[in-house]
Amino acid sequence: MEKELVVVIDFGGQYNQLVARRVRECNVYCEIYSYKVNLEKIKALKPKGIILTGGPASCYEEGAATCDKALFELGIPVLGLCYGAQLMNHVLGGEVKRAEVREYGKAELKVNTSSPLFQDVPEDSICWMSHFDYIAKTAPGFEIVATTKDCPVAADQCIEKNLYAIQFHPEVLHTQYGSKMLYNFVRNICGCRGDWRMDAFVEEQVKAIREKVGNGKVLCALSGGVDSSVAAVLLSKAIGNQLTCVFVDHGLLRKDEGDEVEAIFGPKGNYELNFIRVNAQQRFYVKLAGASEPETKRKIIGEEFIRVFEEEAKKIGAVDFLVQGTIYPDIVESGLGGESAVIKSHHNVGGLPDCVDFKEIIEPLRNLFKDEVRQVGLELGIPEKLVFRQPFPGPGLGVRIVGEVTEEKVRIVQEADAIYREEIAKAGLDREINQYFAALTNMRSVGVMGDERTYDYAVALRAVNTIDFMTAEASEIPWPVLHKVTSRIINEVGHVNRVLYDITSKPPGTIELE
Ligand code: XMP
Repeated sequence: MEKELVVVIDFGGQYNQLVARRVRECNVYCEIYSYKVNLEKIKALKPKGIILTGGPASCYEEGAATCDKALFELGIPVLGLCYGAQLMNHVLGGEVKRAEVREYGKAELKVNTSSPLFQDVPEDSICWMSHFDYIAKTAPGFEIVATTKDCPVAADQCIEKNLYAIQFHPEVLHTQYGSKMLYNFVRNICGCRGDWRMDAFVEEQVKAIREKVGNGKVLCALSGGVDSSVAAVLLSKAIGNQLTCVFVDHGLLRKDEGDEVEAIFGPKGNYELNFIRVNAQQRFYVKLAGASEPETKRKIIGEEFIRVFEEEAKKIGAVDFLVQGTIYPDIVESGLGGESAVIKSHHNVGGLPDCVDFKEIIEPLRNLFKDEVRQVGLELGIPEKLVFRQPFPGPGLGVRIVGEVTEEKVRIVQEADAIYREEIAKAGLDREINQYFAALTNMRSVGVMGDERTYDYAVALRAVNTIDFMTAEASEIPWPVLHKVTSRIINEVGHVNRVLYDITSKPPGTIELE
């Protein structure tokens, strides 16, 4: 059976990965391509449908991102969203103009329920708008199928040619029936069966990995994070102890994390693989002594990590394959996929491949979004605690201790963070908040404990809600929970006499404290 594919053409809008994720949630596989992609390439992919995303430009301006008119004549259903909707109408002979005011936020939407796009969608609902330009005149052959008070063409269509345009953002959760509209497009209009499922993915990958690896030797740098853990288990399922995992404990992990990773992947754990734990804590502390500048600290940690890994790799000798836990957003963000290239180079362990003697890289998760990686993890029977682990930076607590890192400061922040996580879980907030942790400020101040004067550190608590980790809002943690965490940290963690809650959003702040 031919694999179903929907192509998302990226015009640089901020929600583009979200569009692709929503399509995948309909069990339809999709890939993101830049609008600069060649039409021949699109044809060769034989997609069942094409989605044009939003973007920041004005389609009528010279040099604005555009697409070949022939794209609409391939006989493949096309859905344009926001900029994509305007572009479709513009290219096909309609008119797009600048509005007097930007329409931004929730709007009351009225749809024609006889449109296939709005099947099972109520006539009245709420949608999310964000645009300056608007479709002033639809392209010939198009009919209007949705409106809002300020937007005469909130959606239009040309049914004979299977072309659909939506001015608002169905991919954003504020659009009440947005997921349903996207489902209608990919499943009903494009006719996709919906065969993109994670159990099938695991089976296919196991088979593909076995074929590729043969009797070869495979090496994996395991961090204990979600991506590398899922990649390791997938490999172990496929090739058992042809796989060796090296786990470097740099002494900057969360409380007990090193032991937890060992308990899962080590000899007493659940998987068939060779597990090597390197206890390099002291090496890292020695290297970090005296360093207080954030980028310097990151560099030291990154370089030392490579050195430790290299030593281990030398002991193992030449390997055939190196496993990397690269996931789809890494590919898109490094500019290899879509248009909205935001490069987060500091999030990768730079240089790792160079220090190992290997023939080829295996990236079994390179087509998956994070939530899909988690689903694969559950399919593989990995403990939930690990599967739903929150993001943790490669340099670990090194970037959660402002200023110089010492063993004592690591202990303080580990203890405070463990209390914080325990209380958040008890309050049932752990799946609601996307990332939360304790950090250690470099501030010491005077306090009183009993009758004693103290001069101790201030711990900062951070908790954020975010979709893409590029922007974030501070979470509104209930006061009693913050109270409990504060009093426990003060009472149970030595050398802390103050707890602060950081409510800065990103931007202007970052998520991590340093
Ligand atoms: P910031 O602090 O840049 O963080 O707002 C955004 C997300 O990235 C994580 N982060 C890192 N991850 N190495 C990593 O692997 C790093 O150096 C690093 N710095 C930040 C951070 O935890 C958040 O999820």
